[in-house]
Amino acid sequence: MRRIMLGLGAWIALGGLGACVLTGGLDPEATPDRGAEDFTALCAPCHGATGRGDGALAAGLERPPADLTGLSARNGGAFPMAYVMQKIWGYAEGQAPMAIMPRFGPVLDSPIVLFDTGDGIETPTPERLVDLANYLTTIQK
Ligand code: HEC
Repeated sequence: MRRIMLGLGAWIALGGLGACVLTGGLDPEATPDRGAEDFTALCAPCHGATGRGDGALAAGLERPPADLTGLSARNGGAFPMAYVMQKIWGYAEGQAPMAIMPRFGPVLDSPIVLFDTGDGIETPTPERLVDLANYLTTIQK
């Protein structure tokens, strides 16, 4: 009986955790930390800890990693949300065979949330991609 009770407790605890994760996913801005964590783990090696393009691997690349703090500035002051998401996921530029930046689609696979990149259309989008793109908006100069 005790065993069963313990098992039940664990399920309730897990259920609570699941609810938190789901809530975070439904409100992308509620989880900026995950975006920052993914950036540090996946992007900083090339783009640098602050996103300026000076990561540890940058010097050895054929093309310099872009300065990600200038995405808005280079786009007339507006953050190019859809382009950035496509670039990260691996759709932009048809992924030329010589592309240096990896496709991160498989890595960022996560529950789908509805996200409007600014075109007024709510598009089903993996929530880790949303968090990462939202994080990038916070490092614009
Ligand atoms: C292996 C090195 C490498 C990694 C890792 C990498 N990138 Fe890149 N990235 C590049 C290079 C090189 C370019 C510039 C050439 C190009 O556009 O493909 C670039 C370009 C970009 C651009 C386009 C910038 C522009 O102004 O057009 C974005 C956005 C971007 N990266 C975001 C990211 C994000 C977010 C991550 C982490 C999920 C990431 N990159 C990981 C190498 C990398």
